[in-house]
Amino acid sequence: MTSAHTKKRILTGDRPTGKLHLGHYVGSLSNRIKLQDQYECFFIIADLHTLTTKPTKEEISVIPQNIRDLVIDHLAVGIDPEKVTFYIQSAVKEVYQLNLIFEMLVTVPRLSRLPSIKEMARNAHIEEEQVPFGLLGYPVLQAADILMHRAHLVPVGKDNEAHVEITREIARRFNYLYGEIFPEPDVLVPDVGTLPGADGQGKMSKSAGNAIFLSDDAKTVEQKVRGMYTDPNRIRADIPGRVEGNPVFAYHDAFNPNLDEVNDLKERYRQGKVGDVEVKKKLAVALNNFLDPFRERRAMYEAKSAMVDEIIAAGNERTRAIARETVAMMEEAMGLTYFRV
Ligand code: TRP
Repeated sequence: MTSAHTKKRILTGDRPTGKLHLGHYVGSLSNRIKLQDQYECFFIIADLHTLTTKPTKEEISVIPQNIRDLVIDHLAVGIDPEKVTFYIQSAVKEVYQLNLIFEMLVTVPRLSRLPSIKEMARNAHIEEEQVPFGLLGYPVLQAADILMHRAHLVPVGKDNEAHVEITREIARRFNYLYGEIFPEPDVLVPDVGTLPGADGQGKMSKSAGNAIFLSDDAKTVEQKVRGMYTDPNRIRADIPGRVEGNPVFAYHDAFNPNLDEVNDLKERYRQGKVGDVEVKKKLAVALNNFLDPFRERRAMYEAKSAMVDEIIAAGNERTRAIARETVAMMEEAMGLTYFRV
């Protein structure tokens, strides 16, 4: 037996909504980079999940480019396509089958109470009476993704923790009714602080327009850092400033490996002995140093444009093999095998 078979299996992934930023790096990518060596990793690109709030043709038309951006961002930060399997959710049709069966194993009130569904509806400006059946079913489809792989571990953000709990409930219910087919997957929520937005408002997010993207060039990073929110009370460099809750220092802490420099800047900031310009210049340098190796890898992958397509095609194929196995096991266990000819 090769090690690929003895390693436990991970399923994680994202909806293809656009380019990734530093907040994604801190919140999930850095964790994925570590996990790729210890587990057999599958990364889903959950395009069907985007349809729960964005079903129109215009909204679908941007998905292919978003998929390319998502995969290249992963490769750029050091996810190794030899170790990890990327696949497109809608390309592996078995998930539609699992989804329908699992719809029988969870109650409507259980789903209706989930804060994550309400939150997604709110963010998409969907009124309560307008919530699509499919949005209510978002966690069921996610359970179908996870159990299709018979995954052991599911790394997700805090907002998705309840969906993995639903997945465990569905696995238990299935196993109870039909026989032990599915492992009950564990959730792994990385224990990281969220990165504040460059505007000091909430967390970094694309929709809030306060994000520094992994694909930003050096000039853009300098520009964004120059415009970053700092201590608003500090109208002159000789006024003592606040380091705590100051996004510029939160970024220094997260991305500047030179602790002596960071501590010196904090000290002088508190005493009113350094200007914002210097603190920001040094931050821009640190961020660009951090991003440079990603830029190099990105250029390499962009030069071989067919490679992303090949990586995805191979991943779809690998996933289909597992999916077919799971559906066969499931239908066998259920006795759902009659009149197949
Ligand atoms: N719900 C995840 C998100 O917020 C995406 C996702 C879909 C997912 N299916 C999954 C994550 C299965 C982990 C496992 O974008």
